[in-house]
Amino acid sequence: MRAILEKLDMKRAQARAGGGERRTESQHKKGKLTARERIELLLDTGSFEEWDMFVEHRCSDFGMVDQKIPGDGVVTGHGTINGRLVFVFSQDFTVFGGSLSDSHAQKICKVMDQAMQVGAPVIGLNDSGGARIQEGVDSLAGYAAVFQRNVMASGVVPQISVIMGPCAGGAVYSPAMTDFIFMVEDSSYMFVTGPDVVRTVTHEEVTQEELGGAITHSHTSGVADLSFANDVEALLQLRRFMDFMPSSNREKPPIRPTADSPDRVEPSLDTLVPDNPNQPYDMKELIHKVVDEYDFFELQPDYARNIIIGLARMEGQPVGIVANQPFVLAGCLDIDSARKAGRFVRFCDCFNIPIVTFVDVPGFLPGTSQEYGGIIKHGAKLLYAYAEATVPKVTVITRKAYGGAYVVMASKHLRGDVNYAWPTSEIAVMGPKGAVEIIFRADLGDEAKIEERTEEYREKFANPFVAGSRGFIDDVIMPSGTRRRICRALAMLRNKKIDNPWKKHDNIPL
Ligand code: HXC
Repeated sequence: MRAILEKLDMKRAQARAGGGERRTESQHKKGKLTARERIELLLDTGSFEEWDMFVEHRCSDFGMVDQKIPGDGVVTGHGTINGRLVFVFSQDFTVFGGSLSDSHAQKICKVMDQAMQVGAPVIGLNDSGGARIQEGVDSLAGYAAVFQRNVMASGVVPQISVIMGPCAGGAVYSPAMTDFIFMVEDSSYMFVTGPDVVRTVTHEEVTQEELGGAITHSHTSGVADLSFANDVEALLQLRRFMDFMPSSNREKPPIRPTADSPDRVEPSLDTLVPDNPNQPYDMKELIHKVVDEYDFFELQPDYARNIIIGLARMEGQPVGIVANQPFVLAGCLDIDSARKAGRFVRFCDCFNIPIVTFVDVPGFLPGTSQEYGGIIKHGAKLLYAYAEATVPKVTVITRKAYGGAYVVMASKHLRGDVNYAWPTSEIAVMGPKGAVEIIFRADLGDEAKIEERTEEYREKFANPFVAGSRGFIDDVIMPSGTRRRICRALAMLRNKKIDNPWKKHDNIPL
């Protein structure tokens, strides 16, 4: 017995040591934590149950028989975050560069399968040199097995990827299929082909960071939902983020008691919208003042800033927030914002998170770059997402809601449950000036006449009452009372149930 216990201790120590002191030191020198240190920070203290610590690779080529490290470059298991179950895999860069072997992939697949069965999120901490080169095609099969599970788990359990080191080549496609990607600045990158291949093929000179670093993906490509200064910040924010998540699509997101009264009135909101309809204002001010404890977890804050998305709570209940931002591109919808918000709306709908939408949208962004880029198909994504969503949908129009963009933004026509408008709202087919220039084209050049017609149009249509008279909005509300009205609407909708027709799956315009 003693011998076997000693062997057990030795194996455990070997697994915990990973690639050894030298490689751990090198990891730390790069400002990165080790795979185990990351899990320790992410999970509640002492909650981690490790699996497959003794798994080894089965490769016999290139001298690999003599190079075996228990665990094979990935630490897997389950634990809790603020008391709630999550499954986790954390790639260990100190063991063969965290590269993915057949055994390594099977370990990931095992936690994913179990997570699906019990209904709990999967968090992947990625830090890997990609396919285990010595294993060749077995490694590719391993990736494919993970990809297949990513797809099966999509919409069933939340999947979150944190990129904390290299993630290149086909390996990027597992994170790409998860619900959210967080990245760490200066130490992580994601690209399909690295700078060397880029130089050879397109003759572009670009650094790793420029091509696929956290800033690139959180500002330019929109691949990353958030970027963080270091591992510690990323993991601590991920803990906070997980508190908004339901464990699976079979559950509602967790309610957190709050001392913030649902009746809280915010008088300052009555003057948020400027008198001049062309003057912007910060929609984030409205969001912060309406949600519980002014606490808004924004996603993709630096990408497609003309639309705001993120999570918050109303009366303790998690909600997804989508809002046009008049500060950027006057809040117009364009390709990037439609994709950003469309995917988020679908995420909320998958996981029973009600959607609160704040609307100030003058329309879709005109121009050749938008049309050539396929705004028709991309814009339709957001429309499609709102139209298919069956979760509670509460909408507040603060100012402009023009044309197709009005319809898209969770209007009554797309099964918006409760649609409110502020007195400052203008719900119309287009802005007064544009409308007059079309229907009174003959008067163009006569500025006084155009001005008069514009005023007439504004008076008649640029208000909430025409839509109100049709029942397209349910009430015109005082801005200061917005929190109370939304909380009441959400409370009324708590047991909402509607079903879409049976189908194998839909065919969203991709
Ligand atoms: C096996 C690997 C490895 C890999 C790194 N290592 N990548 N071992 N397979 N893919 C090992 C190294 O041999 C080294 O071992 C240790 O990990 C650390 O690597 P370094 O190169 O010293 O680290 P660093 O300088 O930080 O560079 C990291 C790196 C580089 C940029 C990731 O290692 C690299 O370019 N690796 C190869 C990347 C690659 O081409 N992967 C395959 C892509 S194809 P020792 O013993 O010295 O510590 C792919 C297809 C996926 O992934 C398809 C999915 C469908």
